[in-house]
Amino acid sequence: MFRFEDNEPDFLIVYTGNEHAEPEDYIHFVKHWVSKLEQGIPFGVILVSEPHPDHEHTEEHRQDEAEITRIINDFRRDYRDRTSQLNTGFVRIFTPEMVQEYMPTQELWDQGREANNRFAQYNWGIPGEGFTNLDDARNWLRGQKHGAGAAPEAVTSKPSAERVGLYYGSSTGITEYIAEEVQEAWEKAGMKPIEAVNITDVSDISVLLDYDCLILGIPTWNIGQLQDDWEIVFPQLDQLDFTGKKVAIFGIGDMRGYPDNFLDAVGILGKKLIERHAQLVGYWYDEHYKFRESLGFVDSKFMGLGIDDTNQSKLNSQRIDGWVAQLINEFALQPTAVS
Ligand SMILES: Cc1cc2nc3c(=O)[nH]c(=O)nc-3n(C[C@H](O)[C@H](O)[C@H](O)COP(=O)(O)O)c2cc1C
Repeated sequence: MFRFEDNEPDFLIVYTGNEHAEPEDYIHFVKHWVSKLEQGIPFGVILVSEPHPDHEHTEEHRQDEAEITRIINDFRRDYRDRTSQLNTGFVRIFTPEMVQEYMPTQELWDQGREANNRFAQYNWGIPGEGFTNLDDARNWLRGQKHGAGAAPEAVTSKPSAERVGLYYGSSTGITEYIAEEVQEAWEKAGMKPIEAVNITDVSDISVLLDYDCLILGIPTWNIGQLQDDWEIVFPQLDQLDFTGKKVAIFGIGDMRGYPDNFLDAVGILGKKLIERHAQLVGYWYDEHYKFRESLGFVDSKFMGLGIDDTNQSKLNSQRIDGWVAQLINEFALQPTAVS
């Protein structure tokens, strides 16, 4: 059970307890956070992780994990503007024993802190950090400026001059980060810059039809399902006609945790786009994938680029660079440098 300490005006401190977190805990967490936001005073959030036994990938734990992600995502959608204005940062405190067990080298510790920063930036528009004690966390949070986070604006204008659009949905920020890597690889290949847009910031999904070529990023969630923000817009795709449009998908998944549903969302989205008359390009396969089943796998290829940041992050850049080169070819575009 989570315990809360919000008697210090500058901080919301949450102790996770030494059992597995349950969806109820996160419902309480969000409630505390919201009621503190309502006071209008800036504060930092500190999550004190207390060690608990490792859990297996049982069905029940997976359901809980999915539910917790949904709670955090709903909070992100409703409150990101407010958190980015009022929160100074999000710190996780790990006990020295946890650091020893899970992040024993400097490299792993830095990766863990960076993952927490990405998570905080993505969900709340604020910096994230990791420490091993409360005093360091308080000091760091006191040094952070509040109100620096830019709240995302709804995308309403129609960028009709652009030929290539890049849209993604993301629940914990990994697909956002990969979308930025794709964007960078695209520019590095000499192409006119494109902007990665979160599908949750799009007010009208028909904006997708303003492009000749689309790159869409989607993680698989909840055991073979679409990511939440994609799930919300998915029925609206039935109103759109993609005739004449070339669409490429990159999918994020975890082949070790979910070998029977690896990248399923790529297949679900790809199939729908083909049904809506899109020309699907960017099919991909390499010898490093190990999985049993995937709705995204047809004729010995994935219906897009498959990224597994959980188990194979070292392969990301070579995969992304190779795929981007393939896309430029299949989209029949020329680098601006030579056109
Ligand atoms: C509860 C849960 C369910 C998941 N289900 C799947 C799945 O069915 N197939 C898969 O390939 N990956 C699955 N994943 C892995 C996610 O796709 C992966 O963590 C991804 O990096 C999340 O990207 P995001 O941060 O952009 O949302 C699941 C992860 C969690 C936590």
